[in-house]
Amino acid sequence: MLDRTRQLWEKQDQHVGDRLRLFAAVADAVDAVTVLYPGSYVDLAPSFVWPSVTYVDVDRRARQFFGDEDGVRELLTEHGADPAHHAVRFIGADYSDPLDLRDGEFDLVISLYAGFVSQHCTPYLRVGGTLLANPSHGDAALASIDPRYRLTAVVTSQAGAYSVSSHNLDSYLIPQRNVPVTAESLHASGRGVAYTRSPFAYLFERVL
Ligand SMILES: C[S@@+](CC[C@H](N)C(=O)[O-])C[C@H]1O[C@@H](n2cnc3c(N)ncnc32)[C@H](O)[C@@H]1O
Repeated sequence: MLDRTRQLWEKQDQHVGDRLRLFAAVADAVDAVTVLYPGSYVDLAPSFVWPSVTYVDVDRRARQFFGDEDGVRELLTEHGADPAHHAVRFIGADYSDPLDLRDGEFDLVISLYAGFVSQHCTPYLRVGGTLLANPSHGDAALASIDPRYRLTAVVTSQAGAYSVSSHNLDSYLIPQRNVPVTAESLHASGRGVAYTRSPFAYLFERVL
């Protein structure tokens, strides 16, 4: 493994194992094999859990990281994933441009801190598949008003442990301020909405 790959990974994984715990909790709750991660940067952790993950990012460090195929294989092995059974694909592109991917190719799309992924990448998610979105950049809010999606669960975190729950879903996604949430207002602010409850992330099913 290149030194640079190790450095990039150690910085990404500074809360050691945090993302692995997140994705393992999601994998327990969601039936997925093929995963798309737009705006992944160097977050390789989905590949410790799922057998086929496609990463998309414009950042040259991400390209460098995923370009070190030996390094990626070593990291998989270190985390208990057999590289022979875990396909890792990287696309160095802007996810808002057309990507060389098929409609409905993925069971799960991951949207974490990377802008309006759902706006551009929903076609690649199969109907019945899952969007994992966190609220920070407004993508969870956008999905919540998108008729193609239905909230199916929330992901909560406590003391570094993640859990997925489908209880009381009506009590989530209620804005603190009584102002309408629209795609225009979300794009204008580029931020998430302040809700009365704040789980780490949401799971939405693509229904249309
Ligand atoms: C704050 S980082 C989050 C990385 C990772 N999702 C995580 O949670 O650790 C945001 C990443 O999204 C990428 N990104 C943002 N907009 C993008 C776009 N339109 N196309 C591709 N990558 C994008 C950036 O290059 C950056 O690497």
